[in-house]
Amino acid sequence: MKGIILAGGSGTRLHPLTLATSKQLLPVGDKPMIYYPLSVLMLADIRDILIISTPTDLPQFPRLLGDGSDYGLNLTYREQPEPNGIAEAFLIGASHVGDDTAALVLGDNIYHGPSFYQVLADARATLDGCVLFGYRVGDPSRYAVSEVDETGRLLSLEEKPEHPRSNQAVTGLYFYDNAVVDIAKNLRPSARGELEITDLNRWYVERDRAHLVNLGRGFAWLDAGTPESLLQAGAYVCALQERQGVRIACIEEIALRMGFITSSQCHRLGARIGHSSYGQYVMAVAEELATA
Ligand code: TTP
Repeated sequence: MKGIILAGGSGTRLHPLTLATSKQLLPVGDKPMIYYPLSVLMLADIRDILIISTPTDLPQFPRLLGDGSDYGLNLTYREQPEPNGIAEAFLIGASHVGDDTAALVLGDNIYHGPSFYQVLADARATLDGCVLFGYRVGDPSRYAVSEVDETGRLLSLEEKPEHPRSNQAVTGLYFYDNAVVDIAKNLRPSARGELEITDLNRWYVERDRAHLVNLGRGFAWLDAGTPESLLQAGAYVCALQERQGVRIACIEEIALRMGFITSSQCHRLGARIGHSSYGQYVMAVAEELATA
């Protein structure tokens, strides 16, 4: 399975914070926002990952993450010239996906919850068409809302409905079979001029090939697209990390635990930023797992 992180967009709701930098590089707690969606793909055991961003912001991402080899990943980068919609990721990423299956995650979505690794592994193993990830929200009319049968098969998808049929919002993580590239090629822009991910997902729904995995109430799904939600996400991460003494979305730790890198490689990554408590945590994890 190939991964794509969509980290472009205009970030207008965060202006002036995002006038001179990418939203997905803003801090959430003690790390850049993109570490969170990157962690999700790594936990799904995906190592070939394309990062898409705007022409002005894109060069910052390789400065941060390089070619991914430090983390046992293969990272590549492509521009999205204009924010023409989320589904455009599969036009820009067509050659990256090739004849494989694909996972797309939005660069400002944050997931945290129990056995997420297993949830992702199960979704990959049962992928037949597409798998979407649903989350109960208090204000469904702001989202794409899903209606499912008792087996999780999607019956309908409505974008920002006035009268939502459920409280289940579709979150910013999507698994697809290889048909996704051709489906994206045949999409037409919506009234607001974007290639809509909901239109793409409807193709699967209409053919009974869409499945929804409900992330239960023990999960956190946060997006960091407004000043308030950005602060809330940071506060959530800091509170949990301080209480538990473990870090959320520490990509070095995940790379080590997934077997992408060795403990000595992990230790070197920590030492490189060893003046920070993040770097010290990475070194401590490397030492702990080396002797485990
Ligand atoms: P949004 O939050 O819908 O849009 P935005 O980031 O442009 O922000 P704003 O509404 O404040 O102007 O985008 C969701 C995610 O998808 C976010 O990580 C940006 C990304 N995105 C792209 O990379 N390209 C696009 O064409 C679109 C629509 C979104």
